[in-house]
Amino acid sequence: MTSRPLVAVTRAIPETGLELLGEHVEIRLWDKDTPPDAAELDTLLDGADGVLSLLSERIDGPLLDRHPGIRFVSNFAVGYDNIDVPACTEHGVIVTNTPGVLTKATAEFAFALMVATARRIPEAVDYVRDGKWVTWGPKLLLGQQILGATLGIIGFGRIGQGMARMASGFGMRVLVNNRRQDPKLAAKFDVTFVDFIDLLKESDFVSLHVALAPETHHLISTRELKLMKKTAILINAARGPVVDTDALVAALRDGEIFAAGLDVTDPEPLPADHPLVSMPNALVVPHIASATVQTRNAMSSLAARNIVEIVNGRRPAAVVNPEVYDRIDRQS
Ligand code: GLV
Repeated sequence: MTSRPLVAVTRAIPETGLELLGEHVEIRLWDKDTPPDAAELDTLLDGADGVLSLLSERIDGPLLDRHPGIRFVSNFAVGYDNIDVPACTEHGVIVTNTPGVLTKATAEFAFALMVATARRIPEAVDYVRDGKWVTWGPKLLLGQQILGATLGIIGFGRIGQGMARMASGFGMRVLVNNRRQDPKLAAKFDVTFVDFIDLLKESDFVSLHVALAPETHHLISTRELKLMKKTAILINAARGPVVDTDALVAALRDGEIFAAGLDVTDPEPLPADHPLVSMPNALVVPHIASATVQTRNAMSSLAARNIVEIVNGRRPAAVVNPEVYDRIDRQS
């Protein structure tokens, strides 16, 4: 009898995926709440055929050199900046992710961050909790109106498009900056493609929906924050390093922009004594945009399904590096 492939799973993902995986492979599960450190990851991956990884695990060439048995990496996320994809391809390792299933949850959370920061909801909650509510105030906790305002979306993939869809329900004018400007998409979502600078200058809300790559690292820094309106709000549910954190702290402190709503930060996790945590006009939450029961179950199933396809000799739908198959074909 041939033994089943061994898959290292780097955190306890929802049962849906573990159950599916368990029908096809042996699972070696890291069941602690915090990620394995480098040595623990090495132990976890020892002798494994593949890994189901989270964003907290860095998968790179040296790691693959130490674990030559690894044939695939299934990332439990749509983003995969934790993975050195060229190194994986070079090593003949298939990389998969979880696109599609988290679009709605992530877009709705970016929208929720926008509403919460614009209307200062967390500050208002603290105000009541701190016993400061003594009367109705005509100038108490004034925020920014969303209905009819201009939303600038940077990056118009699935999640950016989801954001545009919700914005239309709020009667917003939507500007989009994207590498590819597709007139069909502009018509479909009732948005206007503009250049980056115009978007920054004209938007009341700027929401980031780009992947982290060398060209998007610190896409928003001092110059960009200065171009934004003083009443503008920055939303980041993409990746922390897309924004230059020090520049953002300065802009929020100096009133260059009104507020920021951040699902992602740089660094991550953000230490409790970081200036952003205590700024009243920064709303920071711990990278939870896709965190609904429904979405995490779906991500778990998809991450597992990607592996099931691979171990059964089929190509999963969500392959990040399809070019790896040329290499695998050449080797076989
Ligand atoms: C979460 O940030 C993801 O990329 O899925």
